[in-house]
Amino acid sequence: MKKLIRILIMVFIGLAVNACYYDAFPEDDYVPGDGDDGGGDIELVSYQNDIVPLWVQCTGCHNEGGDLPNMQDNSYNNLLNGYVIPENAAGSILYKSLINDGVELMPPGSPWPNSKINLVRDWINQGALNN
Ligand code: HEC
Repeated sequence: MKKLIRILIMVFIGLAVNACYYDAFPEDDYVPGDGDDGGGDIELVSYQNDIVPLWVQCTGCHNEGGDLPNMQDNSYNNLLNGYVIPENAAGSILYKSLINDGVELMPPGSPWPNSKINLVRDWINQGALNN
């Protein structure tokens, strides 16, 4: 009987230690590559769903017709070919064109609202994924 009580005590201590262990490591909502620190306030931007639809305001000029980066067909590869530096929006010609930072303002004469510009910024800083 004494032995049984000792075993039960050991089991309870074990459970208590386990409970402390989990308290010390709260559930983590970290998503790799989403550019946030686990706070969960920045969503992972999707190139296909969030970014590509924005390009309709660019493809009137940026299409297969000229020498401008073609944002109509194969836009991802074309932009990654010199206009986007993954994880470095501030250094990317694409982002600089949207904020008129040493590059001609795009779209010419009609700057975008910050909400759209920031989507492009976040997408680049999250690694410019083809997601
Ligand atoms: C009215 C036509 C027109 C529209 C619309 C337009 N662009 Fe352009 N874009 C141009 C022209 C012209 C150039 C070349 C400018 C130059 O070299 O000085 C250019 C150049 C660029 C460049 C390259 C800049 C460089 O220095 O190499 C980027 C990036 C760009 N545009 C992004 C965009 C984006 C993003 C949009 C949509 C938000 C857009 N453009 C909409 C005409 C347009």
